[in-house]
Amino acid sequence: MPVIDVVNLSKSFGKLVVLSDVNLAVEEGESLVILGGSGTGKTVLLRCIMGLLKPDSGHVAMDGQVIQDLTRDQLFEVRKQIGMCFQMAALFDSMSVEENVGFALKRHTTMTRGEVSDRVEECLNLVGLKGTQKLRPAELSGGMKRRVGFARAIALKPKILLFDEPTTGLDPVMTDVIGRIIMDLKQELGVTSITITHDLKSAFAIADRIALLFRGKCLAVQKPEAFRVNPNEVIQQFLRGDADGPFLQDPPPPAHPKKSTPPEAHP
Ligand SMILES: Nc1ncnc2c1ncn2[C@@H]1O[C@H](COP(=O)(O)OP(=O)(O)OP(=O)(O)O)[C@@H](O)[C@H]1O
Ligand SMILES: [Mg+2]
Repeated sequence: MPVIDVVNLSKSFGKLVVLSDVNLAVEEGESLVILGGSGTGKTVLLRCIMGLLKPDSGHVAMDGQVIQDLTRDQLFEVRKQIGMCFQMAALFDSMSVEENVGFALKRHTTMTRGEVSDRVEECLNLVGLKGTQKLRPAELSGGMKRRVGFARAIALKPKILLFDEPTTGLDPVMTDVIGRIIMDLKQELGVTSITITHDLKSAFAIADRIALLFRGKCLAVQKPEAFRVNPNEVIQQFLRGDADGPFLQDPPPPAHPKKSTPPEAHP
């Protein structure tokens, strides 16, 4: 049974169709990377997986439990096993780095103060932020904030990690560090992860499989080597980072366009 199973998932906002019948199954211990242009619905997909957005149709199941059928308490239990790294670090501004990273540990575990402090230190060291415990988010650079968010996501040693562009705003070395942490967590703890990224180098480094979200659908869910040579024009254009091609073109008109109604006559 897949750890995360996205089944016929559709989500629109008013007339804007963002996800249209998306299917995606992530197996235990697998690292899935989702690529896609800006505004294609990657964050919406992650929010549906987390149960933060309700799909219009279809569903998401975690370990066989359908997220939208869970009670608040059950959803809370499921979320404890998920480390989510938001696109914007979403730190608590009034709290220090240490309090931010240790927040869930204090809330959801019976760890002593000393144990929390040790685990926070361990997580900060992992992301290259040794000794930053007492700083406030306002004193951090954008990249440091992202890494604090990352440390917070891994603090509870979650079974599932969801990363929304974890490396945006980081220099290439730190991008590589984050990629390595994702790989280490997978190897040491068997973590299952979904990572959204625009960084192709780290995508190919960390992915067991890669998907491209395009016009509401997953165009391919393939092993990196197969994805790289997929003849689909949209995939190849995305990989080349080329402005010319179908990627930016308007979608084709529907196969059976509705009869156009004559404009209303004005008096
Ligand atoms: N709560 C909402 N209400 C209305 N529209 C929304 C909402 N959330 C997202 N959208 C719209 O859905 C589309 C997809 O948004 P989403 O944030 O998932 O894009 P994305 O693929 O994550 O883009 P980026 O790479 O820029 O982060 C956008 O057009 C956005 O405006
Ligand atoms: Mg996004």
